[in-house]
Amino acid sequence: MKETETKLIRMVYSTFSLLFQFFVLLQLPSLAVSTSTLDKFIQCASAHSVLSIPISTAFFTPKNSSFTSVLQSSAQNLRFLEPSVPKPEFIFTPLHESHVQAAVICSKQLGIHLRVRSGGHDYEGLSYVSEIEMPFILVDLGKLRSISVDIKHNSAWIQAGATIGEVYYRIAEKSKIHGYPAGLCTSLGIGGHITGGAYGPMMRKYGLGADNVIDAQIVDAKGRILDRKEMGEDLFWAIRGGGGASFGIILWWKIKLVPVPETVTVFTVTKTLEQGATKLLHRWQQVVDKLDEDLFIRVLIQAANASGNTTNRTVSTSYNSVFLGDADRLLRVMKKSFPELGLTRKDCIETSWIGSVAYIASFPNGTTTPEILIQRNSTSKSYFKAKSDFVKNPIPENGLEGLWKRLLEDDFAGIFWTPYGGMMSKISEYEIPFPHRNGTIFMAQYVSPWRDGEKSQAKHMTWIRKLYNYMAPYVSKFPREAYVNYRDLDLGFNKKSNTSYVEASAWGIKYFKDINFKRLVSVKTKVDPDNFFRHEQSIPHIF
Ligand SMILES: Cc1cc2nc3c(=O)[nH]c(=O)nc-3n(C[C@H](O)[C@H](O)[C@H](O)COP(=O)(O)OP(=O)(O)OC[C@H]3O[C@@H](n4cnc5c(N)ncnc54)[C@H](O)[C@@H]3O)c2cc1C
Ligand SMILES: *[C@@H]1O[C@H](CO)[C@@H](O)[C@H](O)[C@H]1NC(C)=O
Ligand SMILES: *[C@@H]1O[C@H](CO)[C@@H](O)[C@H](O)[C@H]1NC(C)=O
Ligand SMILES: *[C@@H]1O[C@H](CO)[C@@H](O)[C@H](O)[C@H]1NC(C)=O
Ligand SMILES: *[C@@H]1O[C@H](CO)[C@@H](O)[C@H](O)[C@H]1NC(C)=O
Ligand SMILES: *[C@@H]1O[C@H](CO)[C@@H](O)[C@H](O)[C@H]1NC(C)=O
Ligand SMILES: *[C@@H]1O[C@H](CO)[C@@H](O)[C@H](O)[C@H]1NC(C)=O
Ligand SMILES: *[C@@H]1O[C@H](CO)[C@@H](O)[C@H](O)[C@H]1NC(C)=O
Repeated sequence: MKETETKLIRMVYSTFSLLFQFFVLLQLPSLAVSTSTLDKFIQCASAHSVLSIPISTAFFTPKNSSFTSVLQSSAQNLRFLEPSVPKPEFIFTPLHESHVQAAVICSKQLGIHLRVRSGGHDYEGLSYVSEIEMPFILVDLGKLRSISVDIKHNSAWIQAGATIGEVYYRIAEKSKIHGYPAGLCTSLGIGGHITGGAYGPMMRKYGLGADNVIDAQIVDAKGRILDRKEMGEDLFWAIRGGGGASFGIILWWKIKLVPVPETVTVFTVTKTLEQGATKLLHRWQQVVDKLDEDLFIRVLIQAANASGNTTNRTVSTSYNSVFLGDADRLLRVMKKSFPELGLTRKDCIETSWIGSVAYIASFPNGTTTPEILIQRNSTSKSYFKAKSDFVKNPIPENGLEGLWKRLLEDDFAGIFWTPYGGMMSKISEYEIPFPHRNGTIFMAQYVSPWRDGEKSQAKHMTWIRKLYNYMAPYVSKFPREAYVNYRDLDLGFNKKSNTSYVEASAWGIKYFKDINFKRLVSVKTKVDPDNFFRHEQSIPHIF
């Protein structure tokens, strides 16, 4: 059983992030890069640089042999590297904060559209592709990645280009009893991740990554560097969950560290339909948001082979968990609150907090060394489309059965259910722009990955849209809420740079709800009246 479970879990991860370890060979478009624009840009940027290194080494045009590898380096969704997708005129990789200021000042001066990338995980590729405005340039912050952990004051300053895996590793290096509650996937860029919320296995105890930010440094539309005090509480509110690249470029986040126990327990228990998966999942929905706050049990759902062949398919549900405590206490909590899962001592792996980070990030059995977290290339990529929902009432068994039918129709699809409750319910929905709080049992994410490029794209897109329609009666309504970090252009997008509030509210209210969205628009109008920071789902200004 153990072996099958590990296999199933590997499969689930692979469906999304680990399987397709290959790159598309990018055919370089014969873009006529305007040399004079680049020259002017470099000239302008040099004038604003305080570094003595020649700034030209930070620029990549399609003529530089490394252009493609730099463009691909952190891009997670291979859909947006296809030859038919627009490419940046050039890539600028700032080596110093003054270069980020220069990027803003010079783009503005030369009238060039800019995209900014930290970790490259944007679901719709918005950090490195513009489909609405061309030409555009890419400012990639991957070289700005310092992390300074201050255990004495329970805090850390982190530069935008660092990954969340590096953050976790640097904290654990200094203390076994400190942690930070953010995402599961360790290659996420801290720059973009926190701008949308940042949930992970400690959210039920401590809330989101964005709930645990205490200061920031941002380059605003005028090219100034502002900290919390200088930017003011309205803008500081907006950047903690209002979505990336609408208000400025985050240079640094200052985060608050949280206490973690020396012993953390992880487990994964898998049940197929034949083993009563439907009833158990129905039960999970009734208890999961009320469990002890130290306990996080998410469920990974996917199609599987029932008897080693494709003619007899089933659905497997994997209960994938982190508990902030030892196995004895976990077993007591489970016996009291969720005995139906039948967790046994044998299922439990005791490890450190950093061990649990590696485990939940899909380095399966707790024996992986944490060094895996600082290898930037340790995760891989796929073509995918994903969507999200928030569930407020348990989905009845017949609703689940219809879901299984649909799940069995797609090749590699995965559904991820993430439990809410605990601290998530105690924080007001207006505290930061992220509004999905009290009353949410869990967040559902649907992912359809594929491996053959544009060939089967239409099929998978159609499948996931139909699935989303099927789910409508079972999920939040008015609005049907969605997670901004799971960006989804199906919800609507800005077709031009002066998109109105009314047009944008199609997606804005789903991500932020009405009141927060209005406040975001008002902050945007105040801090970026010319709408310099714009993309397909940037917050609109009132003009
Ligand atoms: C495999 C995978 C796993 C994920 N797991 C989780 C998870 O466990 N929890 C969770 O909450 N989310 C998760 N996400 C979603 C993730 O949080 C978002 O995609 C997030 O925006 C990624 O940030 P990034 O810096 O890596 O991405 P990027 O693509 O670099 O940026 C995302 C957006 O933010 C903007 N941006 C980037 N850097 C900056 C900056 N410095 N200042 C201002 N704007 C900026 C970009 O322009 C873009 O609009 C996952 C995504 C993937 C692909
Ligand atoms: C890219 O090519 C230009 C022109 O040859 C050169 O000036 C620049 O330094 C190159 N960039 C890198 C990163 O090597
Ligand atoms: C399909 O798999 C299930 C579970 O392994 C098994 O009980 C059933 O007999 C199988 N059916 C066929 C037709 O192979
Ligand atoms: C199902 O079985 C087929 C044929 O044996 C195999 O190719 C495929 O990888 C299996 N799928 C999974 C999800 O295990
Ligand atoms: C756990 O990982 C180790 C080291 O990679 C491996 O030898 C072992 O077989 C794994 N155990 C399971 C149950 O997957
Ligand atoms: C990661 O990259 C390094 C060098 O850049 C390489 O030696 C190593 O094999 C890579 N690891 C994986 C898992 O791809
Ligand atoms: C959450 O909502 C429930 C039901 O609507 C309510 O009884 C409870 O007081 C709320 N909790 C908080 C912390 O607001
Ligand atoms: C928006 O911009 C378009 C051109 O891009 C212009 O035709 C239109 O008048 C503008 N609308 C408003 C309300 O400014």
